[in-house]
Amino acid sequence: MSRAIAVLGGTGPQGMGLALRWARAGETVIIGSRDAARAQQAAEKIKERVPGAKVSGMENAAACAATNLLMLTVPFEGQAELLKQLKPAIQAGGILMDATVPLAAGVGGRASRTLGVWQGSAAQQTAELAPKGVAVVAAFQNTGADALNGDAAMDCDVIVCSDDANATALVCELAAKIPGVRAIDGGKLENARIVEQITALIIGLNIRHKGHGGIRITGLPESAYKTNHP
Ligand SMILES: NC(=O)c1ccc[n+]([C@@H]2O[C@H](COP(=O)([O-])OP(=O)(O)OC[C@H]3O[C@@H](n4cnc5c(N)ncnc54)[C@H](OP(=O)(O)O)[C@@H]3O)[C@@H](O)[C@H]2O)c1
Repeated sequence: MSRAIAVLGGTGPQGMGLALRWARAGETVIIGSRDAARAQQAAEKIKERVPGAKVSGMENAAACAATNLLMLTVPFEGQAELLKQLKPAIQAGGILMDATVPLAAGVGGRASRTLGVWQGSAAQQTAELAPKGVAVVAAFQNTGADALNGDAAMDCDVIVCSDDANATALVCELAAKIPGVRAIDGGKLENARIVEQITALIIGLNIRHKGHGGIRITGLPESAYKTNHP
C-alpha cells in the first residue's frame, strides 16, 4: 500500500486500534483529530508500542490534505458536522472508509440500540456528505476496540460494503492485514445498514454474557475470505 492512511477521529479507541494494527503491518498512518497536539500525542503512544512505526498526528483537515485514503472513526452524533467541515479538504478520487455506528448511546439511549438514519445508515449519510468522486466504504463497524488495541490476533470477520468494486478490494486488503481478520466483500453500500445493526446486537450480547464477541461468517467458498494470516 503506497498511500498513507489518515484515521479521522483517530484519538478514540476505535481509531487508535485500527492505527495500531496498520502501523504494525508497516502502513504509514496519520492520526487525525480536531486538535493537532492530541493527534501527535496519540501518534507517540503508537510509536511507543510499535518501534519504527510510520505514524504522525495532524488536525483532521490537514490529514485529509495529506492523503486520499481516509478512515472515519467518530461518534455518529459528530459525523455529519465533521464531514461538512472537512468537505473542502477531502480529495476527489480517494477512498473514505467509515466505521460509524449510529448508537442510541450518543443521545442518551442504550448502547445496544441504534438510531434511525434518514439515508439508511451512517455510511450512506457519509456518502451523501462526501465530495463527488470519493468512494465511501463501510467497514470495521463490528471490530471491538478492546480487541483492536490488544496484542492478540482478532477473532472476527470484517464485512466490507461499497458501490465501488476497486475500493472494496483495497479495503479488503487493508482489513486482511490485521491478524485474525478475514475480510468479506459484503456487496453494496446499502448493506451497511445491516452491518451497523449487528454492532448493537454484539454490544447487547457482550453486556448479557459479559464477553467480547465478534462475528464470523461460515460456509462461504474459500475465495470469499480475504486473509493474510493462516
Ligand atoms: N469503540 C468501539 O469498540 C467501536 C467498535 C466498532 C465501531 N465503533 C464506531 O467507531 C466510531 C468511533 O468509536 P470510538 O469508540 O473510538 O469513539 P469516541 O472515542 O467517542 O470518539 C472518537 C474520536 O472522535 C472525535 N470526536 C468526538 N466527538 C466528535 C465530534 N462531535 N466531532 C468530531 N470529532 C469528534 C474525538 O477525537 P478528537 O477529540 O481528538 O477530535 C474522539 O477521540 C463510532 O462511530 C463507533 O460507533 C466503535
